[in-house]
Amino acid sequence: MSVINLVLLLFFPVIIPLASSNSSSFTYNGFKSSNLTLDGLAQITSNGLLRLSNVTKQQTGHAFYSIPLNFKNSSNGSVLSFSTYFVCALVPEFQPLGGHGMAFVIAPTRGLPGSLPSTYLGLFNDSNNGNFSNHVVAVELDTLKSTEFQDINDNHVGIDINGLVSKVAKPAAYYDNRIGSFQNLTLNNRRPMQVWIEYDSIVNLLNVTLAPFQVEKPSVPLLSFSYDLSLVMNQTMYVGFSAAPLLTSTYVLGWSFSINGKAQELSQLPKLPRFGPKKQPKILTIGLPVISILSLFLGVSIVAYHVRRKWKYSELLEGWELDYVPQRFRYKDLYVATKGFKDKELLGTGGFGKVYRGVMANSNIQIAVKRVSHESRQGMKEFVAEIVSIGRLRHRNLVPLLGYCRRKGELLLVYEYMPNGSLDKFLHDQPKCTLNWDQRFRVIKGVASGLLYLHEEWEQVVVHRDIKASNVLLYDHGSDPQTTHVVGTLGYLAPEHTRTGKATTSTDVYAFGAFLLEVACGRRPVEPRASSETAVLIEWVLSLWSRGEILGAVDLNLGSDYVKEEVELVLKLGLLCSHSRPEIRPRMRQIVMYLEGTVALPDLASLGVLESELHFAYSEGFDDLRSSYPSSSQTMFSGSSYITNSLIFTGR
Ligand SMILES: *[C@@H]1O[C@H](CO)[C@@H](O)[C@H](O)[C@H]1NC(C)=O
Ligand SMILES: *[C@@H]1O[C@H](CO)[C@@H](O)[C@H](O)[C@H]1NC(C)=O
Ligand SMILES: *[C@@H]1O[C@H](CO)[C@@H](O)[C@H](O)[C@H]1NC(C)=O
Ligand SMILES: *[C@@H]1O[C@H](CO)[C@@H](O)[C@H](O)[C@H]1NC(C)=O
Ligand SMILES: *[C@@H]1O[C@H](CO)[C@@H](O)[C@H](O)[C@H]1NC(C)=O
Ligand SMILES: *[C@@H]1O[C@H](CO)[C@@H](O)[C@H](O)[C@H]1NC(C)=O
Ligand SMILES: *[C@@H]1O[C@H](CO)[C@@H](O)[C@H](O)[C@H]1NC(C)=O
Ligand SMILES: *[C@@H]1O[C@H](CO)[C@@H](O)[C@H](O)[C@H]1NC(C)=O
Ligand SMILES: *[C@@H]1O[C@H](CO)[C@@H](O)[C@H](O)[C@H]1NC(C)=O
Ligand SMILES: *[C@@H]1O[C@H](CO)[C@@H](O)[C@H](O)[C@H]1NC(C)=O
Repeated sequence: MSVINLVLLLFFPVIIPLASSNSSSFTYNGFKSSNLTLDGLAQITSNGLLRLSNVTKQQTGHAFYSIPLNFKNSSNGSVLSFSTYFVCALVPEFQPLGGHGMAFVIAPTRGLPGSLPSTYLGLFNDSNNGNFSNHVVAVELDTLKSTEFQDINDNHVGIDINGLVSKVAKPAAYYDNRIGSFQNLTLNNRRPMQVWIEYDSIVNLLNVTLAPFQVEKPSVPLLSFSYDLSLVMNQTMYVGFSAAPLLTSTYVLGWSFSINGKAQELSQLPKLPRFGPKKQPKILTIGLPVISILSLFLGVSIVAYHVRRKWKYSELLEGWELDYVPQRFRYKDLYVATKGFKDKELLGTGGFGKVYRGVMANSNIQIAVKRVSHESRQGMKEFVAEIVSIGRLRHRNLVPLLGYCRRKGELLLVYEYMPNGSLDKFLHDQPKCTLNWDQRFRVIKGVASGLLYLHEEWEQVVVHRDIKASNVLLYDHGSDPQTTHVVGTLGYLAPEHTRTGKATTSTDVYAFGAFLLEVACGRRPVEPRASSETAVLIEWVLSLWSRGEILGAVDLNLGSDYVKEEVELVLKLGLLCSHSRPEIRPRMRQIVMYLEGTVALPDLASLGVLESELHFAYSEGFDDLRSSYPSSSQTMFSGSSYITNSLIFTGR
């Protein structure tokens, strides 16, 4: 008895919360008895850790000190000096994938209503990002490079004032007092790190200092930013943390804060949970004879079991693949996750193979697994290299590719699961529920921004090759997930593409044009059953446009509930993007500007979008297509690498 107690004491040190608080300073060594207001995924674990997010859901999590703090000298309105110190840890599920970080926040409200997850860090949203009326000061520990917010890299610390474009940012590093120089620090390395944030109101200097856990406080801060916070902050403000990462658990172990004083040291912090598989339970002591008989019996069945299992779960792994091990999933795990690739878990079937829904056993993460049959070994190395490089793409409007697995004659691609299915289901064949114009316009802008990222903002130019409604998955829309039917790519292929077989950014723009018309008209690019004048969507819209009746093309399901100017813009832009001459099609950056309304769409007639010219070109293009139908798009691309078309957009 006493031995057991001793063991418990050794392994579970008693945490004595030393929480002291008055209006201007507090110290939490662990959060067991803390006064925090939590929302979203934020929780206090049983051993006193503050967990802002967990890996199973991507949602915001906030934790704020419940009591508002008086940040300003009431007699002259200038912000008082303050200092805060905390220990936190970012624990990604899959290294090196998984990202977004967390932020320390000073905000006028407890919680940040309306804020978005992922790249928005749970701080802002599309509409209020950058607005001075936010009155928000944040220090972000960001592990993702979002080009839309001009991030410097995927491991940086920045000071954000009212918006996500940091006023100042540096790659995460700490000054090592012994060596006398800066050392790099990986933020999401699953280990605790210390952060000090100090503001000196005399010289208006905001310092941010980082260091690994149990390292002496560096004498030189990482960031030292000169700014008068009196211009941003209100008289009383709340302090706290925000996080909304993808597949990452975010923890705060302890936190101290002080106005007009130095934040206190922390001690006896709670421990982070062990990462990785749980320890095997101990085998109980049973009589030796029983064990020996059982073990003989077991031995035989284990051998038989392993032989079967080895065959059932066999994978292909070659020497050149060893670099990609972090992105590899074990076949066995995928098999278990999809309940043995049961038909019940089937999400859809397409030219490239079947897609299954699954739940990873030890983390409860929902995934979608695409099984692509791949007979030839030729080009496999390039193929896998491409998957891995695509796994590094990160954009709000691209569904993350988490990794892959390879077996004989088969390749499995693993994606994050999007619960609401693909866009085409909400557009065609008497949908149970349609999208209103606002939602459609948001989806269009999202896909445009994802495509701009692929074409112009990533380190290499990525041509998608298969833009279509069934490759756009939806978030945040109430509807049961159902089987998706991946439609053929007929009608999205640029005329020059069918001639040369070469995919370019310009053929992507063509497909995007077809997609725009599809979303606005609620019709597929080609309806083989329709009459000959209306069978090809582009021709039909073009003829309506030339008669000055372009709005006649609008999806009847929308009724009259749409913004006329936006619909007209989308339809005309669709025609322009789908111009038969590639040099006339706009680039994605221009398209995004047209959609945002920052630049007006030029007059189509002046660009030579003449019906007669186009009509001819399209007929030619579609005759090519008709003759090549029913050969699938897969054979069309064979020989070239085609993995990029497995990228899927989200309409969030
Ligand atoms: C309140 O905070 C101040 C400044 O840190 C400290 O000196 C004082 O002792 C605290 N008062 C109480 C009652 O805890
Ligand atoms: C993640 O958070 C949700 C909501 O707070 C909770 O129900 C779930 O148990 C958490 N998952 C894990 C693995 O902690
Ligand atoms: C926690 O904060 C609330 C105000 O939001 C206050 O009423 C309460 O007394 C505080 N509790 C402690 C233990 O400080
Ligand atoms: C507030 O400002 C007044 C006037 O400048 C000054 O006398 C006072 O000491 C300040 N109070 C604090 C707490 O800094
Ligand atoms: C307010 O008072 C403080 C303390 O006396 C001083 O440091 C600060 O400069 C004053 N601010 C303004 C705007 O006068
Ligand atoms: C913060 O201050 C501004 C003016 O300085 C005011 O308009 C706004 O309502 C304040 N916000 C809150 C939440 O008090
Ligand atoms: C954005 O956030 C603001 C402030 O929190 C909120 O009022 C607004 O409704 C949000 N906008 C959207 C589109 O969610
Ligand atoms: C900033 O937000 C305020 C209040 O939410 C709004 O009235 C104003 O138009 C916004 N300004 C910009 C530039 O978005
Ligand atoms: C530290 O990080 C910077 C920027 O990420 C990089 O350029 C530099 O090579 C790194 N230094 C070391 C020693 O790893
Ligand atoms: C902030 O950093 C600067 C050096 O960049 C230092 O001189 C100053 O004392 C620091 N201020 C605080 C409050 O730590």
